[in-house]
Amino acid sequence: MTVGTLIVAAGSGERFGGLKQFERVGGVTLLDSAIAHARSVSNRIVVALPVGVRLPDSTPELVYTYGDDTRSGSVANAFRALGDGFDYVLIHDAARPFASEALFERVVAALARGCAAVVPAIASADTLKLVEQGMVRETLDRSRIVRVQTPQGFAQEVLAEVVQADRDATDEAAIAEQLGYPVTVVAGEELAAKVTVRSDLDRLRTPRVGLGFDIHPFDPDGGGDLILAGEHFGPPGLVGHSDGDCLAHAVADAILGAAGIGGIGDLFSDTDPALRGADSMELLGQCLREVVAKGYQVHSIDATIIAERPRLGPSLGALGQALEVVLGTAVLVKAKRAEGLGAIGAGLGIATLVVASLL
Ligand code: CTP
Ligand code: MG
Repeated sequence: MTVGTLIVAAGSGERFGGLKQFERVGGVTLLDSAIAHARSVSNRIVVALPVGVRLPDSTPELVYTYGDDTRSGSVANAFRALGDGFDYVLIHDAARPFASEALFERVVAALARGCAAVVPAIASADTLKLVEQGMVRETLDRSRIVRVQTPQGFAQEVLAEVVQADRDATDEAAIAEQLGYPVTVVAGEELAAKVTVRSDLDRLRTPRVGLGFDIHPFDPDGGGDLILAGEHFGPPGLVGHSDGDCLAHAVADAILGAAGIGGIGDLFSDTDPALRGADSMELLGQCLREVVAKGYQVHSIDATIIAERPRLGPSLGALGQALEVVLGTAVLVKAKRAEGLGAIGAGLGIATLVVASLL
């Protein structure tokens, strides 16, 4: 039994507002996730990409080709690139990156039982109504209606006819049905939901959380200015290899930790002479670029500065805004006194705690 899988990824993502197939979740593009889930059942995978992108190198198991303006055009191109010799052909949307291997296996098992065409589907939990011009015309019998997903499976010769028919449809099973083939339904899954608009993507993303902590002593000689989030508060300053900005450092540690990269010390050495007196907000910007390169976006930052002095209350809004300029996300900055306890309570230094969440 040989299975070829066509992954259609040549759409322009009009409703999403960009090429959603190349968006990343957990550091991996939707397309690559779809390919990974299809691999276990597929002897060969053909990916149809939008005209204009560079085609990655193909291998016998993974072939890249260009799609077309219509979905059926993209399917036809991919089917041609697949070549002969496959008993069954699956068609899968790159926009359904988390359809499980078990779902692929269910579709193939139905084909192996002799089904001509197979679609996964799930029941609608919502009541469904037929609406015309803003008015309900009819309440439908929900028990008879399903939502259809991909991967859809076809006996090779059935798909050959579907492609030959050269009709456009939102799924190929509709064309097989029009041609008179029986279309079998197998259980779909919520995981196989399609990414259509941007909020669909946020739902698929699991938030990642990171904790940042930093502590610096005040310079006993006064030194330079105290600097927090790049804002100057006058002397005494904090001792540090860079500008001693312990708020920027804790934010950097929190976002790097959430992304699984490490801490700020893993990126910037505190013995590097080039970093003496460095602008920590500049370093934070570089940390953010590392986080974004791994496919994450900063979702929220909650920071607490623990300090006996100076009085930070009136400046907290400005600190949040300075961080927001670098991170592009609203940042909450709070301040607490240590109530005279320990070294911080004795006014010997400042500590910061930051929790960051990434999507
Ligand atoms: N697709 C394709 N070729 C097309 C149109 C769609 O390969 N000409 C693919 C998409 O890349 C996607 C799948 O078909 O993986 C499902 O289509 P859809 O969700 O409609 O994606 P887009 O067409 O990209 O989005 P939109 O309709 O909002 O433009
Ligand atoms: Mg479309």
